[in-house]
Order: sequence, then structure tokens, then C-alpha cells
Amino acid sequence: MKSSTDIRKMRDNLLAWYDAQGRTLPWRVRPEDRARGITPDPYAIWLSEIMSQQTTIPHATPYWEKFLAEFPTVIDLANADREQVMAMWAGLGYYARARNLYKCAQIVRDEFGGVFPQSESELLKLPGIGPYTAATIAAICFDEATNIVDGNVERVISRIFRVQNPLPKAKNELRDLARALASPKRAGDYGQALMDLGATVCTPTSPKCKACPWQTFCAAFKAGDPTDFPKKMPKKKQPIRYGAVFILLRGEEILLERRPDTGLLGGMTGLPGTEWASKPPKDPFAAAPAMRNWEKLDGPEKDGRVKHVFTHFELRLDIYRAETAQKPDGHWVAVATLPDQAVPTAYKKALRAAGLPT
Ligand code: ADE
Ligand code: SF4
Repeated sequence: MKSSTDIRKMRDNLLAWYDAQGRTLPWRVRPEDRARGITPDPYAIWLSEIMSQQTTIPHATPYWEKFLAEFPTVIDLANADREQVMAMWAGLGYYARARNLYKCAQIVRDEFGGVFPQSESELLKLPGIGPYTAATIAAICFDEATNIVDGNVERVISRIFRVQNPLPKAKNELRDLARALASPKRAGDYGQALMDLGATVCTPTSPKCKACPWQTFCAAFKAGDPTDFPKKMPKKKQPIRYGAVFILLRGEEILLERRPDTGLLGGMTGLPGTEWASKPPKDPFAAAPAMRNWEKLDGPEKDGRVKHVFTHFELRLDIYRAETAQKPDGHWVAVATLPDQAVPTAYKKALRAAGLPT
């Protein structure tokens, strides 16, 4: 552990670095504005934090802008049509987050009068708000002295202390080390500074130690081996799941399908297909509910395969293409409108592989 003198210096150095070098993000209230009494809107911060999990800030930013323009307050979001919210989320991935986002907005509307609760422990009770998000919102918006730990923070801390314990086992140790450093003063700025440091200076493969405000406190810098940290346990091989999707065309139209509300990509629009299983389906056509009882089909012809990596498995989708002149019920849309359809990335890959516009 560090001495209390070192800890004080580390906090001061990091906050000074943040004042000069911290990123400007569309939802961030910069320290000079914060000092003038401008406080962030918890709704805008909550949205930004949920959206930027598991992805990069540049990827999340246009979504954040679109949501805030369409739903300026949490009440507007809670009153929105669920389908519209899901559709606007398409492409951000991890669709359970969108379902929880909507649920959370409704709870804030119905149980909190449209005002986000102000403490880490109350925030933690809301759907979709885990330890990271609760700590971050409470610090940024309400100056609560929380301990903000994301992947960037874990990397920085593991290098400062040359933590030998590998991730994910080391999570608790890293969290405790981070807590001892965390600044009770300017808690939100400190947490964001540490995340920024990890994102822009203490990067995974080429840390810029020369520009680092913590260089003199860093054990890995001293030892010359920052990129050996964080240590990681060998990755388990992800299981593979197989499925088939159908590109069913009728003239200029294509058949889409709404997925069931629960499960992966729940509530999203996709292509008709089979369940995803540990082996490729023997008779994909018979296994796809939407494709049963079809008679006058031209095809199907196999049209390639796409891969898509989810958190816990890799999906391989065989693509079959068929044409029909029948007029069965279903969600038919003009092929030309495909780029405007809110379709998750796994399906976009299949459409692209089949030469359709996305
Ligand atoms: N990554 C996600 N949220 C962040 C924030 N508020 N500051 C810095 N990096 C972040
Ligand atoms: Fe990371 Fe280098 Fe700074 Fe250590 S000195 S915290 S390794 S950037």
C-alpha cells in the first residue's frame, strides 16, 4: 500500500492532469464548469454510462445524442413506445440493457417522481444499474465519495501495484486497492480522471508512461514491465452455437420477424430462422417455425455463413435464400428500406453476406 503522503500526491497529480488533459465528452461537465456550480443531469449521465458499457465512447456517442434529442427527460423516455426504444438501440448490442433502461425509466417516473435517486445504494436497486454504474452516477452527479472501478481502472491499478493475482480472480483485490486511493474530494472528477488515464495514457498495449501523472508511483513502470499487467487467467474457449436464417424474398420485399421478448436479442427485429444449438440443424427448413408449411418456394439455396461473437458464445449462422410468390402473413418490408430497419448486427452480417443493403 502507499503512504498517506503518496496517496495525497497521487490524488492531486491525477486531478491536475484531468483539469488539463481530461477528455471533453458531450455529456461531461468539465471541472471549470463544475467549479462554477454547473451540475450534470443524472438522466444524461445515466444514459451515457449504460450506453458506453461494453463498447467505445465514439460508438456510443451518436446513440446518446439521438436518445437525448428524442427523449429530453427520463419521463419522455418512460412514456415512449417500447418498440421505438428497442429500435433506437439497434446496433449497440447487449439488448437486455435496452430493456432494463426502459424499465428503469418507468420506475424513476412512477416511484421517484421523475427524479433519479441520489445515493449509490438507492441507485443500485434500479434495474440495469450495477455497482459500476451506481458508483459512477453517485460520484459524478452527487459528489458521493464512491469507488469507481471499470476495466480501465483495473488496468491502471494492476500496474501501479504490479498485482500478480490474475483477472478475474484479482477483481476484489483491485477494487480494494482502488478504494484506498480514491479521492473523497471531487469524487466524480477523480473517478473520471482515472478512467480517462486508462483510456488515453495507460492503454493496454502501448502505455505512454512519459506523459503519466502517476509515473513516480508506478511499480510496473519502475520494473519496466507495464504491459505484463493486468495478469489474466487463460481464456476458456467459448462454445460455438449454430443456427440458420432465411432470406425470404417476395418481389422487392423481405420477411422479417420479431424475436420473443426474453432471451438474447429479445424484442428485436431479426430474420426468420432456427433456434441456436450446439450442432448445425439437420433440416434447417423444418426447424424454422416461420418456414413451415411453405409450398411454392424457389430455393432455398445456401448463401454462405456468418460468424458473430456474443459474450458467452460464438454464433455461426448459415444463410438460406428463397423466393416465393405466396402472400402469407408476416412482417414484410421493402428490401430498399433495410438500411432503415433496426436490426441487430448479427442479422446485418447475414443480410450483407447475401448481398442485400444494410
Ligand atoms: N467510460 C465510461 N464512462 C466514462 C466516464 N464517465 N469517464 C471516462 N471514461 C468513461
Ligand atoms: Fe500506466 Fe505507465 Fe502510468 Fe504506470 S506509469 S500507470 S504503466 S501509464
